[in-house]
Amino acid sequence: MSYKFSPALEKKFEWLKSRYPVQDAVLIPLLHFVQNEVGYLSLDAMEHVAEKMNISPARVKEVASFYSLFRFEAGGKYVLQVCHNLTCYLKGSDQLLEWMEKNMELDDSGNSKDGVFRVERVECLASCGTAPVIQANNWDYFEELNLEKLQKIVEALRAGKWACASYEDRIQEGSVA
Ligand code: FES
Repeated sequence: MSYKFSPALEKKFEWLKSRYPVQDAVLIPLLHFVQNEVGYLSLDAMEHVAEKMNISPARVKEVASFYSLFRFEAGGKYVLQVCHNLTCYLKGSDQLLEWMEKNMELDDSGNSKDGVFRVERVECLASCGTAPVIQANNWDYFEELNLEKLQKIVEALRAGKWACASYEDRIQEGSVA
């Protein structure tokens, strides 16, 4: 096992343990922090989490694999989840996906050639009233999208400008948990 929590993550782990009266409740927020640090939940990372939580690696994998918010393969810096459920489909999500496939040079796993993006098709993101919707990095929503808006978002992210400035702050303060 080569992965170990960074000193910052060790601190967050201690903070989580103090926040929840039941140790089991720490697992999901901790997995979010690990995913934010590593980019995905590698086997190494999940084994380390199991060791720290004093539970079996199988239990960690069982919990993590239940949620579509967790990723198990390395991918792009920005994970764009495109809702392709009915309302978003009727409002043009297939055109957004088509544009992304053509212009972002995605491989079969949805990773862009430049390594910046990973695109995933997901089920309803629970924001049907503002369809079509894309969720970025498990947190920020881009809503009422059209091709023009999507191109601007992709350009901004490619230039390293996170379109929702508060995201890093939320990670820092731990409110993502
Ligand atoms: S169908 Fe896309 S958010 Fe519900």
